[in-house]
Amino acid sequence: MDGNGRWATRRGLPRVAGHHEGVKSARSIVRAASALGLRYLTLYAFSTENWSRPADEVSMLMSLLERSVNAELPELMARNARLRVLGRTHGLPAGVRRGVEHVVHETRNNTGLNVLMAFNYGARDELIDAFRSLARQIVAGELKPEDISEKKISEALYTADIPDPDLLIRTSGEMRISNFLLWQIAYTELWVTPTLWPDFRPADLYRAVAEFQGRTRRFGKV
Ligand code: IPE
Ligand code: MG
Repeated sequence: MDGNGRWATRRGLPRVAGHHEGVKSARSIVRAASALGLRYLTLYAFSTENWSRPADEVSMLMSLLERSVNAELPELMARNARLRVLGRTHGLPAGVRRGVEHVVHETRNNTGLNVLMAFNYGARDELIDAFRSLARQIVAGELKPEDISEKKISEALYTADIPDPDLLIRTSGEMRISNFLLWQIAYTELWVTPTLWPDFRPADLYRAVAEFQGRTRRFGKV
């Protein structure tokens, strides 16, 4: 969900205005994804690198994310959607963590769209956490080094029981991955749009999905 800051700056507004507008985009895209019947929608909300932004922007983002997630609870319930968090939740401020975990808990039995919120997420940190957990299993004698497989690594990630993404949408035109789901996107289709996140509409999602449906995925075969 990139481009909030640029969206605001182009209008002569403070960056926070872009983040507020970005929340509206996120809400409409969750609705659209649910209506389309998608099973999983991952939103990259806050990366581990985002902590190095100015302190006032960080604390504003934290409270905005927590408030927005809580404000969505009734609609998530109405849509039978489940919220899950990918990331180091223990690294979040306690109040933010409690607020988000409340929504995760309330929606845990919902069987529709899974909204995965990457929050305090970094793919390399996720891999570090996975390697640590595999190493602990080896030390405990529960796992042999030669039994480490793609499956074992996948199961040690935050996305343990979640399929790899089919499609990755990057807004604001940046041609990079920015430490997002590095293991999981090995064969993911990429779709980059110059549209800034606050301007991203359900029509853009439909266009991305339609183009995705027209692609031939070979997974390294012919
Ligand atoms: C994405 O927009 C929002 C978050 C990282 C939370 P940015 O804030 O990165 O916007 P730009 O890249 O400065 O335009
Ligand atoms: Mg950015």
